[in-house]
Amino acid sequence: MSKAKEAKKLAGRAAVETHLRNNQVLGIGSGSTTVHAVQRIAERVKQENLNLVCIPTSVQARQLILQYGFTLSDLDRQPEIDLAIHGADEVDADLSLIKGGGGCLTQEKTVAGNASRFIVIADFRKDSKNLGDQWHKGIPIKVIPMACEPSCDPEAWGCD
Ligand code: A5P
Repeated sequence: MSKAKEAKKLAGRAAVETHLRNNQVLGIGSGSTTVHAVQRIAERVKQENLNLVCIPTSVQARQLILQYGFTLSDLDRQPEIDLAIHGADEVDADLSLIKGGGGCLTQEKTVAGNASRFIVIADFRKDSKNLGDQWHKGIPIKVIPMACEPSCDPEAWGCD
């Protein structure tokens, strides 16, 4: 296993070790690091018979939740998330993040915004002094078609 893969695995498992409790509502992030966290969640569910409810941040996360037989829910039914575990594209010295490089930006922000605890799992390659030092693909943005027109109309925002 490569050093980076080993580091991802350690980060994902450590987050679950430290923060997962019984009877939690979880936000499940997206990306390859999250897969390691989900695998450790599955082990703990089996070993400790934990009762968890999971909210996905992407199609990938939804499939992982179903694959491991976790209880799948959504923000309509579970608007209060106890713990959200997500990967990141880059993390700076102040713990500011670049996220969303793999897509799912809006869903990830929505789930994180509804979580009491937001745990980011990242390996050493994501660590930087200033955002942009390591991640060179630019800042991810998402255009939501229904918000496009009002977002572009300065009068609608009261700043004419
Ligand atoms: C999803 O869009 C991102 O925010 C991911 O969490 C991020 O890209 C991390 O992915 P990896 O764990 O695969 O590096």
